[in-house]
Amino acid sequence: MVGAGISTPSGIPDFRSPRSGLYSSLQQYDLPYPEAIFELTFFSHNPKPFFTLAKELYLRSYRPNVIHYFLRLLHDKGLLLRLYTQNIDGLERVSGIPASKLVEAHGSFASATCTVCRRPSPGKDIWADVAVDRIPRCPVCTGVVKPDIVFFGEALPQRFLMHVVDFPMADLLLILGTSLEVEPFASLSEAVQSSVPRLLINRDLVGPFAWHPRSRDVVQLGDVVHGVERLVELLGWTEELQDLIQQETEKV
Ligand code: APR
Repeated sequence: MVGAGISTPSGIPDFRSPRSGLYSSLQQYDLPYPEAIFELTFFSHNPKPFFTLAKELYLRSYRPNVIHYFLRLLHDKGLLLRLYTQNIDGLERVSGIPASKLVEAHGSFASATCTVCRRPSPGKDIWADVAVDRIPRCPVCTGVVKPDIVFFGEALPQRFLMHVVDFPMADLLLILGTSLEVEPFASLSEAVQSSVPRLLINRDLVGPFAWHPRSRDVVQLGDVVHGVERLVELLGWTEELQDLIQQETEKV
């Protein structure tokens, strides 16, 4: 289970870190409160702040970092049952983790939907308008086209339901770079069997690790890159991971 904390090393701000988090830097958008930028009611009233943010954040190309490639290495070693991510930056896909192993619980920019006639379209179709500060509109009904990222109050993608099978099957749960503040994603942390070890690598103690710890919980607080690199070292995979990163970076 991962959150925005695994993409901060790639240069993408997370949401709730004091000062550096996105929710502390939205003053320019004149929002009633920060989360409004991801709320349907506000979006239907004024989609401009969202698209301005999308342009700022996602028209630049970011690269996966060592954490994404560690998760890719878990997959390459046949150890990754599934990666549940809250992130909408798509860096898990860019790192080479196949879509079959991914649950993008809060959606992604890969596809978009007209908010009026529900016409689906490829996510890439909105960027020409977004790049020049134009609101993307449906060619059929002229309704505003919204990327398929999950706004507060929206249903999560069907694939999220895979957790019903995945979590009871898991024999280890890694939780990296998330505040575990948003439901229903956060509750997944309690969905593994009580005998299953849960490893949290995060700057701060969050969710059930704080208020409802289990006997087999392991917590590595501090910088998430340092924590993952320490785990990789203990696993004896440091060289393998470096080779993977080099091979993937050369591809670009
Ligand atoms: N090292 C360690 N921890 C980090 C680092 C880092 N470099 N960067 C961030 N973190 C931690 C923060 O301390 C915080 O605990 O990662 C966590 C990020 O939490 P949030 O900013 O709340 O992000 P996330 O948990 O992904 O938010 C969940 O909220 O706004 C909605 O839909 C949005 O998917 C998002 C959801």
